[in-house]
Amino acid sequence: MPQTIKNNKSKVFTPGKIGNLTLRNRTIRSGCFEGLSPDATPGEALIEYHRKIAAGGIGMTTVAYCAVSKDGVAFGHEMWMREEIVPILKRLTDAVHKEGAAASIQLGHCGFFANKRASGRTPIGPSRKLCLFRYSICRPMTEDDMQHVREDFGKAAKTAVRAGFDAVEIHAGHGYLLSQFLSPWTNGRKDRYGGSLENRLRFPASVIKYVREVVGPGYPILVKMNTEDGFKGGLTIHEAVTAAQRFEAAGASALVPSCGFTARTSFYMMRGQVPIREYIKSERNPLTKIGMALFGRLIVKEVPFKELFLFDHAKMIKDAVKIPVAYIGGVTSLANMNQVLEAGFEFVQIGRATVRDPDVIKKMQSGEIAGVDCDHCNRCVAEMAATGICCPSETKGLKRKEYK
Ligand SMILES: Cc1cc2nc3c(=O)[nH]c(=O)nc-3n(C[C@H](O)[C@H](O)[C@H](O)COP(=O)(O)O)c2cc1C
Repeated sequence: MPQTIKNNKSKVFTPGKIGNLTLRNRTIRSGCFEGLSPDATPGEALIEYHRKIAAGGIGMTTVAYCAVSKDGVAFGHEMWMREEIVPILKRLTDAVHKEGAAASIQLGHCGFFANKRASGRTPIGPSRKLCLFRYSICRPMTEDDMQHVREDFGKAAKTAVRAGFDAVEIHAGHGYLLSQFLSPWTNGRKDRYGGSLENRLRFPASVIKYVREVVGPGYPILVKMNTEDGFKGGLTIHEAVTAAQRFEAAGASALVPSCGFTARTSFYMMRGQVPIREYIKSERNPLTKIGMALFGRLIVKEVPFKELFLFDHAKMIKDAVKIPVAYIGGVTSLANMNQVLEAGFEFVQIGRATVRDPDVIKKMQSGEIAGVDCDHCNRCVAEMAATGICCPSETKGLKRKEYK
C-alpha cells in the first residue's frame, strides 16, 4: 500500500546544487568511517552499506575517510586511494547511482596521528609533536613533503572522478593534516607556513587550489573544516571565518563546518557519551589499549549532546561566504533540517541518524517518522573500529522508540 506523503512540501525534499551537480534533495550522509575496508581495500560490505543508505532516500552519500596515500592512514583497515581499488569503487558508485543518489568520497591525510604500524612510515606533521593518541612523534614536513602531499590529493581526486564519484570532500577539519596546519597547537613552524593565520592557511589553501586545477571548474569539491578545535590554544571561530573565505577563494564548491581534534578532543565533534569500555575492547594496538584504560577518561572529555549543537558557529561561517554551506552536527529530526534550511544553509549533513536508521530520509519524506531515536551513546564509533559501523542497539534487537 502506498505510504501517505505528509512532509513533501519541506524544502528538504527539493533538489539542490553543489558546483555542477544537482542532488535530488538537500540531505548528505556525512563521512562516518565504516571500517569495511579490510586490508585497506574496500569490500563488498562497503558497497552494500552505501547502496542501502542511497536506497534510504539520501541525496548524496559520502564514503568516509579515504587517505590520499598510504602514509595518511589511521587504521590498517582504512582505505587509501590507488588504481587497484578503482574497479570496486566504480561498483560502489554504480550501486549508489542506481538507487538515485549521488556519491562523494572524503579524502584526507592523518598527518601527525597517522598509524606507523599500518603505513610503515614515521608520521609527518607541520611540526615535531608527540601524539599521545598514538604514542609517536612525527617528523616536521619539508616543502618537498608538502608538494608530495598536494600531488597526492590531486591524484586521489582524479582517481575518485574515474571511479564515478560525483564529488570529493577534502578533510580540512577534525585535526587531520590540513587542520593541523591551521591549528596553533600542532603548527609551531617559524617559516611562511606557521605563525600568522595567513601563514597557517597557506598549505591547506594550496591543496584545495591544486585539487581544483586537477578536477577542473564545476566539479564539486566540498571542504570539511573546523569552526574551532575545542580547546585553548587551538583554532578559534574567528580564525575559522577567515579560513572559510580563503577556502572559497581557493576553489571550494561547498563548506561543511564541523569541529574537534581527533588526537585530543575526539568526541567533541559528536557530543554525547564516551563509550570508553567498548572503545578499549575494540582497540587493536595493545599500547593504546593500556593507555586508554589508564588515561581514557582524562584524555577523552565527554561533552553533552544537544540538537544542532554547531548551529551558531556554522551560521557565522555561512554568513561569511557565498558558496553553499552544509550544516552538520546533531541533526536528528525533520524539524532540525527545516530549521537549518530556513536559516539559509543549502544542505544538511547527517551522521549518526543514518547509522541508526539508513531509511531515515525516505521515512521522513513519507511521513512515517518525524525523527530518529539515536541516543548518542556513540557505541557506533567503537563498532566502526572493531567489526564495522552499525548501531549496536539496533543489531542487538533493542526496541526502538521512534516518535511521531
Ligand atoms: C561512527 C562514526 C564515524 C565517523 N567517522 C568520520 C570520518 O571518517 N570523517 C569525518 O569527517 N567525520 C566522521 N565522523 C563525524 C561525523 O561525520 C559528524 O561530523 C558527527 O558525527 C556529527 O554529526 P551527527 O550529529 O549527525 O552524527 C564520524 C562519526 C561517527 C559517529
